[in-house]
Amino acid sequence: MSGPTADLLAEALAAVRDAEGEDALDAVRVRYLGRRGRVTERLRAVSQADPAERPQLGAELNDVRRAIEAALDDALSRARASSREESRASEAIDVTLPGRRPFRGALHPIGRMMDEVAEIFLGLGFEVREGPEVETEYHNFDALNTPPDHPARQGQDTFYIRPGVLLRTHTSPVQIRTMESEDPPIRIIAPGRVYRRDALDATHSAVFHQVEGLYVDRGVTMGDLKGTLTAFVKRFFGSKHRLRFRPSYFPFVEPGAEVDMSCMLCDGKGCRVCKGSGWIEILGAGMVHPRVLKILEKRGLDPSEYTGFAFGMGLERPFMIRYGVDDIRHFFENDLRFLANLSG
Ligand code: FA5
Repeated sequence: MSGPTADLLAEALAAVRDAEGEDALDAVRVRYLGRRGRVTERLRAVSQADPAERPQLGAELNDVRRAIEAALDDALSRARASSREESRASEAIDVTLPGRRPFRGALHPIGRMMDEVAEIFLGLGFEVREGPEVETEYHNFDALNTPPDHPARQGQDTFYIRPGVLLRTHTSPVQIRTMESEDPPIRIIAPGRVYRRDALDATHSAVFHQVEGLYVDRGVTMGDLKGTLTAFVKRFFGSKHRLRFRPSYFPFVEPGAEVDMSCMLCDGKGCRVCKGSGWIEILGAGMVHPRVLKILEKRGLDPSEYTGFAFGMGLERPFMIRYGVDDIRHFFENDLRFLANLSG
């Protein structure tokens, strides 16, 4: 091989050696073997060479071209293999790393308490009914013997959606809805959310939960009411808790009572939650008012044959007593540190 051809080959092979990566190798290919590459141009020039030298020169340059091609192919397949290796290494999963624990959801403490309350009443023979949160004024007030000018309407400041439609202020309208659609014996509870424009403090929230109870049959007495509530409280809070029935007034019961429980936070000594009294009011109750029972006439029944008791219990306050929560607002602020602490 002549000097210049051997130099060209040596130079091209050095360029192949120095090229790093597929792009650099491509550039070397263009520089030497491309349409205007150095080897290509020399091959083109063979036709102008001395005819005696042409065959040899042509053969040598073709050898150079093949040698460069072989070197390039070789280098290219090595470059490809190593870039595959690199990407395999960077995408590799380290199975020994500790996993990220997914956040586990849980039921809200009030929801769990609702289930627990329902469970106890189911055991006492009650069934669960539900009613709408957006309620008619008729079901929330009128049918519960609370006409428009009745002072009790002021006692439960109401969020109105539009005239005649409101956010229910208590679960008592489910009493009406049940008596409209079912014949006695009726023995139901109705848990759910209720709304009031109450001033907020440690024991008052604008949205809270109640469980309504209704038992209508022949011969139901106040004794049944006391027995049922006492059985519930003992199951729910334990047997050392005391209950206190105070005569009270609700337009839809006669007689009516408010039921207080001894405050567990201070053991009856008086604290922020019980406002120093040692007692916390947990529910209203009484014997279903004859005017409310009149709804049974719609079903062709004679209301005078029946009596019944009803109660409406707030859920947040008993919960606070049981778990020592000192402010009702914790339930609605949804601070997961608080909620998770109470998830059993
Ligand atoms: C009533 O809502 C009646 N419907 C209860 C009733 C039903 C009486 C059936 C007779 C027969 P009252 O407004 O007192 O009553 O509320 C009942 C309970 O809800 C209270 O004892 C209290 O535990 C809870 N409660 C009332 N207002 C709030 C409030 N703003 N935040 C949290 N809990 C409340």
